[in-house]
Amino acid sequence: MAKQIVTDLNVKDKKVLMRVDFNVPMKDGKITNDNRIVAALPTIKYVLENGGKVIAFSHLGKVKTEEDLKTKSIKPAAERLSELLGQEVKFVPATRGAELEEAINNLKSGEIMMFENTRFEDLDGKKESKNDPELGKYWASLGDLFVNDAFGTAHRAHASNIGIAANIGEGKSAAGFLMEKEIKFIGEAVDSPVRPLVAILGGAKVSDKIGVIENLLVKADKVLVGGAMMFTFLRALGKNTGTSLVEEDKIELAKALLEKANGKLILPIDTVVAPKFDNDAPHMTVSIDEIPADQMGLDVGAATIELFSKEIAAAKTVVWNGPMGVFEMPNYAKGTIGVCEAIANLQGATTIIGGGDSAAAAMQLGYADKFTHISTGGGASLEYLEGKELPGVVSISDK
Ligand code: 3PG
Repeated sequence: MAKQIVTDLNVKDKKVLMRVDFNVPMKDGKITNDNRIVAALPTIKYVLENGGKVIAFSHLGKVKTEEDLKTKSIKPAAERLSELLGQEVKFVPATRGAELEEAINNLKSGEIMMFENTRFEDLDGKKESKNDPELGKYWASLGDLFVNDAFGTAHRAHASNIGIAANIGEGKSAAGFLMEKEIKFIGEAVDSPVRPLVAILGGAKVSDKIGVIENLLVKADKVLVGGAMMFTFLRALGKNTGTSLVEEDKIELAKALLEKANGKLILPIDTVVAPKFDNDAPHMTVSIDEIPADQMGLDVGAATIELFSKEIAAAKTVVWNGPMGVFEMPNYAKGTIGVCEAIANLQGATTIIGGGDSAAAAMQLGYADKFTHISTGGGASLEYLEGKELPGVVSISDK
């Protein structure tokens, strides 16, 4: 990457503003998956061990109402970070003002603090999300250096990433190790892969993945399509899809993508159908030519798993985004498990999951350690797979 990384900065005794993405899932104020916090540890530890003072911050969810100020505090993430680090993480329940400034000025080398959800600034005019120039300037004024390790937020152009980067000063910003790793793995897989590159795309909607499909049809050797979006493609081929989810307004687009694909795009050959969206509904596997009019497809079938597994077995690089079926329901998880297994059995290949639901599926199904890289970015990895530039990355100082 032609951007500075944290090792390019002299952090000793410096106030290091560190943007992390601790937008983690929570239930009743408890973190249900701390993967993003764990993934930020190497950069945080590096700065602390090298005598820097870390001021960490992140958004959490979207903040629109006064009620959100009560339920969307990032404090639980600061507490979890403290447990993981084995060190106190002082939490300041503010995004600006005297208490925050004093805490930063009292911070000693090797100490870390965290301040409140950056999107609390959204309540009054979306200052964070609209990259209010004053806010980026103010936050930048609180530190000496800026380290951006929030890959998950890199597709956003907000005050807490690009606003600070623009104001911290020439040569004073850098990517953290997580950001560096994400860019390296996803970037290399798409732009200079060891071939064959097999892309596996799933998820519900073609409309969410148009850019990714278009880019990967150019870059990959094979594009395997599963998930509910397969049915929009099947309709484009003139097949009956019963009551399966189909984006009627995307059928023409699916036709155009199939034409452009030149045989690279591989669709399922069978599907698991049920009369309703219910794990316990009676279900069966049928060929894609025999989907009953009153049934919906909820997973790919065994023959498709075999077909996809053969394609995956030949790959030297695999990029996967989107589950093959409704993996949250055990009866429709076999397609996604099958893909996980095929990738897990691959020797000597680079295998990458591009965040979001497929990352959650691989982790939930127990395959997390079988991949070369699981992205911490949902939207960010999707945009990166589309070949888009990410503002959070672009704004970091060049080497
Ligand atoms: C994510 O979870 O994808 C990132 O943290 C960005 O969150 P956002 O979609 O609310 O901007």
